[in-house]
Amino acid sequence: MLELANIGRRYRVDGAEVTALADVTLDFPPGSFTTVVGRSGCGKTTLLRVLAGLETPSEGEIRRSEDGPPRIGVVFQEARLMPWLDVRGNVGFGLRGRLPQATIEQRCADTLALVGLADFARAMPSQLSGGMAQRVAIARALVLEPQLLLLDEPFAALDAFTRRSMQNELVAIWQRRSPTIVFVTHDVEEAVLLGERVLEMQSGRVVGHETLDLPHPRDPTAPEANLHRRRILARLMQAPSSAPAGPA
Ligand SMILES: Nc1ncnc2c1ncn2[C@@H]1O[C@H](COP(=O)(O)OP(=O)(O)O)[C@@H](O)[C@H]1O
Ligand SMILES: [Mg+2]
Repeated sequence: MLELANIGRRYRVDGAEVTALADVTLDFPPGSFTTVVGRSGCGKTTLLRVLAGLETPSEGEIRRSEDGPPRIGVVFQEARLMPWLDVRGNVGFGLRGRLPQATIEQRCADTLALVGLADFARAMPSQLSGGMAQRVAIARALVLEPQLLLLDEPFAALDAFTRRSMQNELVAIWQRRSPTIVFVTHDVEEAVLLGERVLEMQSGRVVGHETLDLPHPRDPTAPEANLHRRRILARLMQAPSSAPAGPA
């Protein structure tokens, strides 16, 4: 169980108040795949940070299930690797001392293979391209086998081919392990390609949603996908980005 009830988050910047989130009420059922779409500055990253527990809301309530803290994997917009550790060291960092060493080695090797970096375990972050570094960051989250996987525009820096294969891998991981996924993107096509539900955000509010009953793998050129994209875009383009949206 993961629920947000009337969550708000305000910042004070140079004496002025900035509303990053306003009255956000959402339910994330176990094993669901939600994508969040909206233009830059609408509050997507703040929403993920609240879900990750990295940000304390100014108001509202987060409800989590009581059976212990969930394992959470987070992938940020930038890779944020530790430059003094090699790829293997970065991927295994969160598991150190928590599992037998042989299990950690096996998991790291499997996860690096999954993101296509089996041959780069000993490479240093400075030797990686941006896309490779981001794949290491994704491996670092997946290796934890998270129950909740939070991704903030994780594929934005990847080339189109790598992005498409990573999108397919993410869906395959979701189908195999059923983590609850919240995936933030500014790309409506990507939102429709991946999620079971697309949330539309504007000025800190969730202003609409679309439920996608389309089997995976999805064809982004299929008429149904096109229809969903058109509806989402029409709603997101309706109101000016600066004006706060009215009550839902
Ligand atoms: N730490 C912060 N301090 C001040 N303002 C912030 C901070 N984080 C986010 N904001 C503001 O909150 C709003 C939403 O930001 P963000 O959640 O990063 O949006 P998005 O990820 O959709 O681009 C923006 O106006 C941003 O400037
Ligand atoms: Mg952001």
